[in-house]
Amino acid sequence: MRRRIAAANWKMYKTPQETVRFFDKFKQFPDATDHCEVVIFPAALDIPAAVQSTLETPIQIGGQNIFWAQEGAYTGEISADMMRAAGATWVLVGHSERRHQVCHETDAEVLKKAQAAIAAGLTPVICVGERYEEHKAGKAHDVLIRQFAGGIAGLTEEQFAKIVIAYEPVWAIGTGQTATPQIASEAHKLIRGEAAKRFGEEAAENVRILYGGSVKPENIEGLMREPQIDGTLVGGASLDPDSFAKIVQASRPLS
Ligand code: PGA
Repeated sequence: MRRRIAAANWKMYKTPQETVRFFDKFKQFPDATDHCEVVIFPAALDIPAAVQSTLETPIQIGGQNIFWAQEGAYTGEISADMMRAAGATWVLVGHSERRHQVCHETDAEVLKKAQAAIAAGLTPVICVGERYEEHKAGKAHDVLIRQFAGGIAGLTEEQFAKIVIAYEPVWAIGTGQTATPQIASEAHKLIRGEAAKRFGEEAAENVRILYGGSVKPENIEGLMREPQIDGTLVGGASLDPDSFAKIVQASRPLS
């Protein structure tokens, strides 16, 4: 049985003080964290405050990005070991805002970052997803196959057992236009199929695949009715403690 995950990608929002205020409120929600895993991805400078605020709670903290090298002359970058030493236990890898919009990260870099994360003891959430033009042209599945081949298939079986995948169609991110539960479910099936071909049926059955893209309290229930969807990666709606608590509460196992 795959344990569901409610993950919050805060992007470049919140100061350390605002981070503490979020958790002061979020931790008051009863039942906020015991039926699924809750992982918050704050900006790097907010990680110490987030770790401190969540001590002795099941809430886990992750970074939004790492660099693949262990150390060296890479001005402005953060290594996986540094992230781990700061108290993070998870990291996002290959978010679309890093692949397409701004940083032009390639599948090969995504793979190297995932490997670096695993070597440092971080759980990478490897993000994949097609852009609007690709979606419109009916190319979504080709894109996912290519991203899987370039960014995930190069892992060893042992490494693959340690990752989480997030399907985030770029056209649904921050647009208010969520993929329907059916579209998401089909994409998850395809990704699981690719995983089965490369890593075997059992590994594919065990890997958790999250959906991300305009997830909100209003649409979480429908998404969570899909057995293929093992949780969500939430941007905008995770910034407010009430709204994210609702999403967490709805992220129950299917009975
Ligand atoms: P969104 O972002 O929920 O604001 O669409 C999701 C993400 O980018 O991970």
